[in-house]
Amino acid sequence: MQYSEKVMDHFMNPRNVGEIEDASGVGTVGNAKCGDIMKVYLKIEDNVVKDAKFKTFGCGAAVATSSMATELIIGKTIEEALKITNKSVMEALDGLPPVKVHCSCLAEEALQSALWDYAQKNNIKIEGLEPPKDSDHHHHIPNEE
Ligand code: FES
Repeated sequence: MQYSEKVMDHFMNPRNVGEIEDASGVGTVGNAKCGDIMKVYLKIEDNVVKDAKFKTFGCGAAVATSSMATELIIGKTIEEALKITNKSVMEALDGLPPVKVHCSCLAEEALQSALWDYAQKNNIKIEGLEPPKDSDHHHHIPNEE
């Protein structure tokens, strides 16, 4: 399988690994098919994502996309953060092999799930943010890819 240099770089040296203790929002998502799990922590102040960290128990592409997704979201307003899709994460990584595209969907879902958690905790409505498909947003396990 052919991985881009950026994917390899983010897999070997992932950015923003860890936890944020007083996170504003936390999102955990799992891939029902491969069993990989991704947890994203966001620190949000004045509508801006000040910090992001992640823990991913998953394949190399899942680690690389989590790493890139946290890099992309730091410094963004919530509105801008909502526009980060698995496509934008993949583009930032110079692409992924087709069989690994579903791993980048996990990263998108983890970000959205953490934003949703933030909105719930603060009782705010974020325009354009869909609730996680699973009612239990702390453990959002999607059924499809
Ligand atoms: S194979 Fe499970 S997220 Fe990549």
